[in-house]
Amino acid sequence: MKDVVIAVVGCGRIAQNAHFPAFAKMSGIRVKYACDLIEEKALKMMEKYDFVENAITDYNIALADKEVDVVYVLTPNYAHYTVAMDALGAGKHVFCEKPITVNYELSCEMAKKAEEVGKMLNIGVCNRYHKSVEKLAELNAKGEFGKIYHVYCSFRQPRSIPGLGGAFTTKAQSGGGVLIDWGVHFLDLILYILGGAKLKTLTADAYCEMAKDMKSYKYKGMWAEDTADIENGTNDVDDFITGHIRTDKASISFNGAWAQNLDRNEMYIDFLGDKKGARLDYCSLFDLYDGATLETSREQYDIPDMYQKEDEAFINSVVTGVKDRNNIENILESAKLLDYLYKSADIKKEIEF
Ligand SMILES: NC(=O)c1ccc[n+]([C@@H]2O[C@H](COP(=O)([O-])OP(=O)(O)OC[C@H]3O[C@@H](n4cnc5c(N)ncnc54)[C@H](O)[C@@H]3O)[C@@H](O)[C@H]2O)c1
Repeated sequence: MKDVVIAVVGCGRIAQNAHFPAFAKMSGIRVKYACDLIEEKALKMMEKYDFVENAITDYNIALADKEVDVVYVLTPNYAHYTVAMDALGAGKHVFCEKPITVNYELSCEMAKKAEEVGKMLNIGVCNRYHKSVEKLAELNAKGEFGKIYHVYCSFRQPRSIPGLGGAFTTKAQSGGGVLIDWGVHFLDLILYILGGAKLKTLTADAYCEMAKDMKSYKYKGMWAEDTADIENGTNDVDDFITGHIRTDKASISFNGAWAQNLDRNEMYIDFLGDKKGARLDYCSLFDLYDGATLETSREQYDIPDMYQKEDEAFINSVVTGVKDRNNIENILESAKLLDYLYKSADIKKEIEF
């Protein structure tokens, strides 16, 4: 069978830290293009990985190449829609990093386009491929928890606003703050582990408080600091959000903070079942408790390379034509959830579906 030919658009952090290292361990693929608007980033990938064949700055070159089967969209959020739609329009299968796009409406358009052209479109909600997540989904499907009646989740850290003033904190470019950046993983995992829960009602409150005055925001380290623009940039996104969601399976409550005046990292999901409960410590280990016995996953479920698993599953879907768990069809409900939580926070009212 011929190798699947890949073009990667966007050679930034997630490309360098996750997908290129995953490609290096995979067989049955060729990476014909590494593309980035900043040529040095594409060249760096070609220098580092001998399997990268060309470095380009215009992704249209890869789209025009009939040999290319698959396009990886690893750009910032605001460019996902344009690059993915162009790639699907050119007849390519697409893997697009999370979040799908900056809002639900555009995400639905992307799903429709993939359906129309008959191509695979997967989204990088990588944690669905984490071993602990797989195990909890399996335990729930087997009825180990009894009835899960409520899920509580916390994604809160003391000072973790990324790239303050740049694309991450500019709503027009990112779609939002801590909810779309971290909540996208947590809330998606909850719907997934519950077995594909459907939304009934939700309400949320969002705040942009901790870096209102960007110059006085205190931090020790900053993810994506090279994209920050503290002097002249914008910060109009949520650094704290809280919400309550009713689904057809369980109710969910959550708090998320990119920054808070509490020196605590609280990153976990609690599944409360009437037979057993579990805490998933983001996003690696879990404890299972039934009131008498505490089972812990600490030794058994160490951190696997979930990026490699999600990339292998995607390439397998391209080859076999069978959609996998990260196909856009299975992610739209969590994209809808994020979008409507923001809508509820804007109008300060509960929303019913
Ligand atoms: N799955 C995860 O756990 C995870 C983790 C981090 C980031 N992400 C997602 O990955 C995406 C990228 O994040 P990042 O941190 O790597 O960003 P980044 O800014 O480090 O990299 C993005 C790169 O895309 C390039 N780019 C932008 N528009 C382009 C275009 N039209 N053509 C070619 N290149 C273009 C930029 O020059 C930049 O080098 C974001 O959507 C983010 O949400 C996912």
